[in-house]
Amino acid sequence: MSAPSKVILEDAFNMKKTVENYIQRRPRALVHIPVRLIIERLKQLGKVDQRSGCLLDVGCGSGESTRLLAKNFHHTIGVDPSAPMISYAIAFDNEISDIEFKVANAEKLPIEDSSVDVITAMFVVHYADLEKFIPECKRVLKPNGVALFYRHQISKILSAENDALPVIDGPVKMMIRQLLEKAREMSHPSFHTYELHQTQFDSINWEKKSREINELEFAPDSQWNLGSWSRFYQNLPFYQKAVKNDVNPVTELVQAVKNTWSMQDRDSDDIKIRVVYTTVMILLE
Ligand SMILES: C[S@@+](CC[C@H](N)C(=O)[O-])C[C@H]1O[C@@H](n2cnc3c(N)ncnc32)[C@H](O)[C@@H]1O
Repeated sequence: MSAPSKVILEDAFNMKKTVENYIQRRPRALVHIPVRLIIERLKQLGKVDQRSGCLLDVGCGSGESTRLLAKNFHHTIGVDPSAPMISYAIAFDNEISDIEFKVANAEKLPIEDSSVDVITAMFVVHYADLEKFIPECKRVLKPNGVALFYRHQISKILSAENDALPVIDGPVKMMIRQLLEKAREMSHPSFHTYELHQTQFDSINWEKKSREINELEFAPDSQWNLGSWSRFYQNLPFYQKAVKNDVNPVTELVQAVKNTWSMQDRDSDDIKIRVVYTTVMILLE
């Protein structure tokens, strides 16, 4: 594997302005729903214990999801290589006292051996060099510990106005493919997420590992419309870096939706949509 994460990371997450935008515009539901799914799964595995559990959230970003996850643990540590992200995480008015944030990357964790019950990494493993991160997970986890890597990816757009209109899935796949090809060009060869972490999963050397894939509709705090969704997507730090001045895959997708639904004359902000995501969890027990 060649040089990890550097290009995308430095440009996408290390600029204060981009980070601010990302934090402010991200629909809260896209944080709350995944955290709920993760906690439910950890509870099924019997890995959540408020009295004694220690959580390590790798690639914690601004700590928004870390703080929610932390409610289920006695002690929580969030690490992220982006200094602007960590300064937001620290500055936030933390209700939870037993939580600390550090600047560090997945490949070299500033954590003692056998000290952590649960490792989470949300939307992170495609940036990390797994050849280094996985041995670090083994080193810091307690003998019965578990690592859970999560991400989701848009898979379908449906009309929220008329159930008879066709589901948009082919053009969505095309958009994801275009974007992630660009990301691969800019980053390391393992940055490859449109196959839902298959290559990363296959490369992980772990005795008991599983990859769980589900489809789920994510509703934001208010109803999505084609305009609000496309602005949200184009505002993602990764998207801005990947697209630059090239053909804009989201604009193409918006056009494909309008063509398919014969809505060429309608304003995107007036077209109500439902968005279905594919969720991926990698569990290392
Ligand atoms: C999409 S954000 C997700 C942040 C957070 N986990 C959340 O769900 O809100 C991806 C994060 O991964 C971090 N990241 C990138 N490369 C990393 C690496 N090699 N090790 C750890 N984190 C990394 C970025 O700085 C960024 O904060």
